[in-house]
Amino acid sequence: MPSEGFLPPSLGRKRNMCGIVGYIGNHDAKEILLKGLEKLEYRGYDSAGLALISEAGVHVFKEKGRIADLRKAVDGNVFAPIGIGHTRWATHGVPSKVNSHPHQSATGRFTLVHNGVIENYELLKRKYLADVTFNSETDTEVIVQLVEKFVGEGLEVLEAFRKTLSLLHGSYALALLDAEENETIYVAKNKSPLLVGLGSGCNVVASDALAMLQVTDQFVELMDKEVVIVTKSGVIIQNLDGEVISRVPYTAELDASDIEKGTYPHYMLKEIDEQPAVMRKIIQTYQNDQGKLTIDQDIIEAMKEADRVYIIAAGTSSHAGLVGKQFIEKMAKIPVEVHISSEFGYNMPLLSERPFFIFISQSGETADSRSVLVKVKEMGCPSLTITNVPGSTLSREADYTLLLQAGPEIAVASTKAYTAQIAVLAILAEVTARRKGIDIGFDLIHELGLVANAMDVLCDSKELIEVIAREFLAVTRNCFFIGRGLDYYVCLEGALKLKEISYIQAEGFAGGELKHGTIALIEEGTPIIALATQENVNLSLRGNVKEVVARGANPCIISMKGLNMDEDSFVIPEVHELLTPLISVVPLQLLSYYAALHRNCDVDKPRNLAKSVTVE
Ligand code: F6R
Repeated sequence: MPSEGFLPPSLGRKRNMCGIVGYIGNHDAKEILLKGLEKLEYRGYDSAGLALISEAGVHVFKEKGRIADLRKAVDGNVFAPIGIGHTRWATHGVPSKVNSHPHQSATGRFTLVHNGVIENYELLKRKYLADVTFNSETDTEVIVQLVEKFVGEGLEVLEAFRKTLSLLHGSYALALLDAEENETIYVAKNKSPLLVGLGSGCNVVASDALAMLQVTDQFVELMDKEVVIVTKSGVIIQNLDGEVISRVPYTAELDASDIEKGTYPHYMLKEIDEQPAVMRKIIQTYQNDQGKLTIDQDIIEAMKEADRVYIIAAGTSSHAGLVGKQFIEKMAKIPVEVHISSEFGYNMPLLSERPFFIFISQSGETADSRSVLVKVKEMGCPSLTITNVPGSTLSREADYTLLLQAGPEIAVASTKAYTAQIAVLAILAEVTARRKGIDIGFDLIHELGLVANAMDVLCDSKELIEVIAREFLAVTRNCFFIGRGLDYYVCLEGALKLKEISYIQAEGFAGGELKHGTIALIEEGTPIIALATQENVNLSLRGNVKEVVARGANPCIISMKGLNMDEDSFVIPEVHELLTPLISVVPLQLLSYYAALHRNCDVDKPRNLAKSVTVE
């Protein structure tokens, strides 16, 4: 008989990002929770729900679809000073009203929202809840049913909650309501992000501080396996044994305007436009009084000692890592391997004698990366997280952190975080090189300043890029991106952007590789987006373009000034050859954006995706 921690292969792992909120105070919780959920919608948007406790009892509202749909379903007449809410993204169990959270126990006494995955839920169901009829296909329902069962056996609610938690294997951020006692939200966390916010006359719970900035900027971080009793007048944090833990709150340094769209139609467009300002902020942040780039000395010493750097990341962040590899190898002369985190964790390569690990993650919460970090720590290797989110799991758990300074990225498709990652990696490489006595041969601060200016120019070229997007991408079913050297890495990113928001089948290829098989897919009119920003491969890349044109492809060449030719569709300003990814990606981001618009896609919330992938 397998133990409760055993995960039968057939169950697989559910990927369930989700966002949760909770409020307890004197005001009506409904609107606060709905607004909070709107801010968390980037975490999941296939269904949503709210549970409120009014004088009349518990009210649960759920809807398949967006928060806007849930808003319509909520009864405006209910006044409730306490409630919890959830926005869901799931691949396990269809998005439906029944599978959406909150879930309730059999009698309706307990109501729960959950972010994470309970790996042993089937076993718990069989062992403890064989006589309970379940309503949903979710793992979450097991938790709420267990609480009710243990309370039925005579335990106090808190004890029953703790006993339930001790049985769970997997990840969870939980908020639980008891209909018989409307003065407490019971909260717990393990591996999924969760914060408690301290308001005046109220307290809140949220997966991300963004959701509750409307109420407070004072937040308390929670650690794994902690239980929190949240009332309107206080917050008590305990460990699983019931010992009280004291923790100082921190101020969330987020400007509420950072998380508004303002006059922009989409967050993605706003975030693309923010890139020049982010570049300037990064230069400013990482510059000392003597006008030199600077990074915490301990990080640089650890980098310097390494005989090999391992960059671990997923998706767009791994594409930034590929560019970072070139910086670190070319400037600091340290060999670098870039690995996709979901592969590295289970298929670890032979490591060098003195490895140094760099985790790149916009959210700092990506579970695939976190599981590698756990192993890296067990092996005693030094680790650095480069992230946009201070206090995020990957930041807390690595030895060192460098922040991206990009401001909140709300659109699901990453844009400004990608360029910020590349800029921070360049700075890390430069400072390490300098510490090693290597002259990189150019002034990185000056060159990054030129990058920011070039980004301004590109952000002002939207009309032209929209025309190109209409011509090449409005009706096609596929698209290939080709480039060589650094351009190849940017092509991978350009293709990912296009896929995720416009649903066009897109692939990035090294220019010379297409002819080794994939060229068979080229048909009359197939769009080929070619990047030509690298002088040493400019002519060979153009040869690759000719190969596909001869088979009917429709080429759109994006070149850099100085390397441009008559047939090019778009020319980007000239920047230092190593830094070209920072600007060549901008027209690709805009092309994806306009392609998605022309195809009537939901730019900020593409189907099947969520911003933060918090379980494996
Ligand atoms: C694509 C995108 C994803 C993320 C990936 C890793 O636009 O955003 O590919 O890059 O899920 O996420 P982080 O960087 O948060 O670890």
